[in-house]
Formats: sequence, C-alpha cells, structure tokens
Amino acid sequence: MSLPLPTIPRPRGEMGSFSFSEAEIEAEAIRLQEAIQQHQRWPIETCRGIAPITLEINRLKKEKNVFLIAHTYQTPDIIYGVADEVADSYTLSKAARDASQQTILFSSVRFMAETAKIVSPHKMVIHPSPEAGCSLSDGITAQDVRDLRAQYPGVPVACYINTTAAVKAECDVSVTSSNYLRICERLPGEKLIFVPDRFMGAHLQKALQGKKEVIVFDGECEVHAVFTGEKVRQWRKRIGENLSILAHPECSADVLEEADFVGSSEKLIHEAIRLGKVGQPDVMLITECGTAERVMAEAEDELNLYGACVMCRHMKATQLEDILQALQEPRDDQIIEIDSDIIARAQHNLDEMFRLAE
Ligand code: 13P
Ligand code: SF4
Repeated sequence: MSLPLPTIPRPRGEMGSFSFSEAEIEAEAIRLQEAIQQHQRWPIETCRGIAPITLEINRLKKEKNVFLIAHTYQTPDIIYGVADEVADSYTLSKAARDASQQTILFSSVRFMAETAKIVSPHKMVIHPSPEAGCSLSDGITAQDVRDLRAQYPGVPVACYINTTAAVKAECDVSVTSSNYLRICERLPGEKLIFVPDRFMGAHLQKALQGKKEVIVFDGECEVHAVFTGEKVRQWRKRIGENLSILAHPECSADVLEEADFVGSSEKLIHEAIRLGKVGQPDVMLITECGTAERVMAEAEDELNLYGACVMCRHMKATQLEDILQALQEPRDDQIIEIDSDIIARAQHNLDEMFRLAE
C-alpha cells in the first residue's frame, strides 16, 4: 500500500533506563513492527528504540491498574504499543464509562478526556497533553450556546461531542460522527440548533430537508476543512471509476457530495477493510492520517490507498514519553478536573446521547 504520510514523531528527551533484558527489548521491537505493519517507516531500529518505553508503560499500567484509551488519530506506536482500546469518539466514551479500572489515561485531545471524566466522574482521568485542543471545541463557548437559546427559545440544541464540558452542559444532547443523523432525527420538534461544526451541520440540513429546520453554528475542523471537492474529482478522473471515496462527515458538502461512503473514523476503517476483502482495492480516505495508518496495519487484503491525508497537530501532540511521565507521576494540569455542577448537566447530555444512539 502506498500513501504519502507525515514524518513519524521521534522520541523526545532521555528515555531513562529501565531494567529490561536485551531479549525482552528485541521481542517487543518485533511485536511493535509486526503490529504497525509499515516496515519502511518503522524500521526495526526505530522499534528497538521505543521498545523500552512501551515495555515500561505496559508494566506501569498493570502495576497501577490503569486503562489506557487512545483515539485512532494517535501515532501507531501508541495505538499498537500501549493502548488497551482504540476506536472513534463514541466507542471510546462508552469504553471510558464501562471501564472497571479506577484510573483512565486518555491519549487524545482534551475534549475526549473531559468526556471520559463526565461519564465516569468517580474515576481519575489523566490527559498527558493538556495543550492538545481541537479547532471545533476551541471555537465555541458556553455563552455562544446561551445566546443561541435566547435567540431560538424552546428549540433543542444538539452539540457535536467535539465540545468542552462547559458547552455540553448548555446543550440537550451530544452526537458523534457515528450517530449524528440518527440522534438529530429523533429529537422533538420541527427545529434544531446544531453546534459547532458547520460542515456536519450542512450535512444534517440536507439529510433532514423537509422534516426539520437545522440552525447551524459556524465552527469547523481545521484538518477536514483542507480537503476540496475539486481535488477529489481530479483523483477520481486520474484513477477511474473504480476508486472508492471514503470521507469523514467533518468535510465540506462539496467533498461529501463526491463520497461513496461517509462515516466516523472507525466506520471508515471498517469500510476500507471490507472493500479490500471484496476485491475493490482502490480507496481514497479523506480524513486524518491516523485512519490510513490503522487500515495499513489491520487490512489483510491488498489495498491501494490514494490521495494525501492531513495530520491533526492536536492529536499528534502526545508522544510515548508524555504518556510515560503522566503514568509515573501526573502533574496537576494532566488530571482532568471539572466543576461538579457542569459534570451533572453534561452527564445528562451524554446519557441522552447513549439513549438515543442505541
Ligand atoms: P471520530 O468520532 O470519527 O473518531 O471523530 C473524532 C474527531 O475528532 C474527528 O476529527
Ligand atoms: Fe479536532 Fe479536527 Fe483534530 Fe478532530 S481532526 S481533533 S475535529 S482539529
């Protein structure tokens, strides 16, 4: 499979010295390389270099009984080296809620770690990279939602899960990329306010045309906003009609118009793998690079991945060293704390999501 991907993040700083034998390190390096399945970009020397860190993280996880969750957009060393659960935002919020461990380490962006804390407030949630935000969640405030409510009294407000706890507390229900159509359709009334993603909102407006009026906020994902319909059409022309175009719903209407399949990060992965199985190997994934990296690692059939992915700088802010340090001794700013009143209101919002999504 071929796909232009960004440079692999290198370990930063000193790793510290751990007491693993050469044989343990060699076995771990081989395990990592086999799991990542990109032998050129992840040569055995690189895997040997990170093996002591993944071994130590896995040892500490056991010792401290920590459940390590990673979003698909994290780098492959995190996903295949140390994560206990990897998926899209909906599945990960359920995994955080249902985890038996009392400590969760969430390798991802801040709003996902906050969501884990909301659904399991009695657990300690560690977020190794407090600076890892998201252009969607950082682009709307609780006051923006209060203003919309004042402007459209009585209209239900659905928010994309890519929002802060304070914003969720002001909204009636959260939705994710895997359930926004289903949940919004089930909300009462003929009007609906959707925040903050204008592209997902436009997709909703189209899907609910004639059934509901959808009032949309103007946020966007800085990663998915980069793709254009024009570029996608050029690829289709170059590769031919056999090219299957798979896009994330955070893309613009122009891109989604060209897509053969629209879905969450996890659904895109499953669809690409399915296409490989049924002998349709020409696939273009219009989304963040982590999705293609998982397809490369997990597809058993040959796939030709076309086009270029875009990297999310927020998702890629976390490295193995950050996880190790946060596991050893989390700093105060790496422990998610949310005001109890906000937790209670945001919990109601997420309970509604679980109820309406199932
Ligand atoms: P998913 O729920 O599809 O993983 O989306 C999360 C996200 O931030 C996509 O940009
Ligand atoms: Fe946010 Fe976009 Fe990054 Fe997802 S890919 S975390 S929506 S900035």
